Amino acid sequence: MSAQIKAFLRESILYPLLHPIYKFLLYFYDILRTFLFTIFPTLGLSSYNSMQIKEYKNYSNNFNNAMELCVGNFQAHEAYPYEKYLMERYKGERKIALDFACGMGRMMNRFMDLFDKVDGVDLSLENITYAKQYLEENGHSEHKFDLYQSTGMGVSIDKKDYYDFIFSTIALQHISVYEIRKSIFKDLLSLLKPGGSCCFQMGFGWDNGNYWFSNKYTARSTNGGDDVSIPDDSHLAGIKKTLKISVSKMLNLKWNYHLTQKWEIIITLFGYLFTLTNNS
Ligand SMILES: C[S@@+](CC[C@H](N)C(=O)[O-])C[C@H]1O[C@@H](n2cnc3c(N)ncnc32)[C@H](O)[C@@H]1O
Repeated sequence: MSAQIKAFLRESILYPLLHPIYKFLLYFYDILRTFLFTIFPTLGLSSYNSMQIKEYKNYSNNFNNAMELCVGNFQAHEAYPYEKYLMERYKGERKIALDFACGMGRMMNRFMDLFDKVDGVDLSLENITYAKQYLEENGHSEHKFDLYQSTGMGVSIDKKDYYDFIFSTIALQHISVYEIRKSIFKDLLSLLKPGGSCCFQMGFGWDNGNYWFSNKYTARSTNGGDDVSIPDDSHLAGIKKTLKISVSKMLNLKWNYHLTQKWEIIITLFGYLFTLTNNS
């Protein structure tokens, strides 16, 4: 439903009556879609993928929104020592790195001094364009990076055994279809040089009923709306088994969210950093 129609209905005196009816119909529509997607998972995959592409196009419809809506809390993220945690256990070569779901290039920019070359991949063409702009504005020569647009269903880079190190921040928890994450991990591992490592950040410590192995094909939003949650340690054994994770490390993030001038809410987020190793 378009934003104008939503705004019009919200203003209407019939809203208190219409809203519960709308929610009720939506509920049944979702049951139908869940049923359909269980029988035909490929339809579910393509429905979820179209939603993600559309949503990220909206989040990143200009450079400022790419920073403040797509990344969000930009300054808080920039103040956080991601490199320290992502690289803590990495002992390999510092030649070529890949930022999966690089957005507008925030973390690529930070990794440029740590590696000879830092590539980025993202499903959003808008973000890819802004990443190029952001990196050039920050003085990085175009020989120092390559940017790729992916389909959103995998990684879409044809460079087997190429990267020393692959990382990802505040992105994988937004992909709430397990089959897609599985295909992404498979692709990422094939891109790693033998002995290379991949380290990414996931949300941890909260429970929205949507877990690691769920395929939430019916999700209506991404980038926070329908995230994957890993509520506690008991969920980790199964995850570790499927990913063959060799090391895991707790990361605590504590942020202050200033909602209005009057209200401040302090949210403590927990994340696990998983290290995957290509032992081939
Ligand atoms: C919150 S932003 C984070 C950007 C960047 N990693 C950072 O830390 O600043 C999430 C990014 O993940 C990307 N993304 C989400 N789902 C994706 C998928 N299935 N494949 C590739 N990129 C995806 C989005 O386009 C967006 O740029």
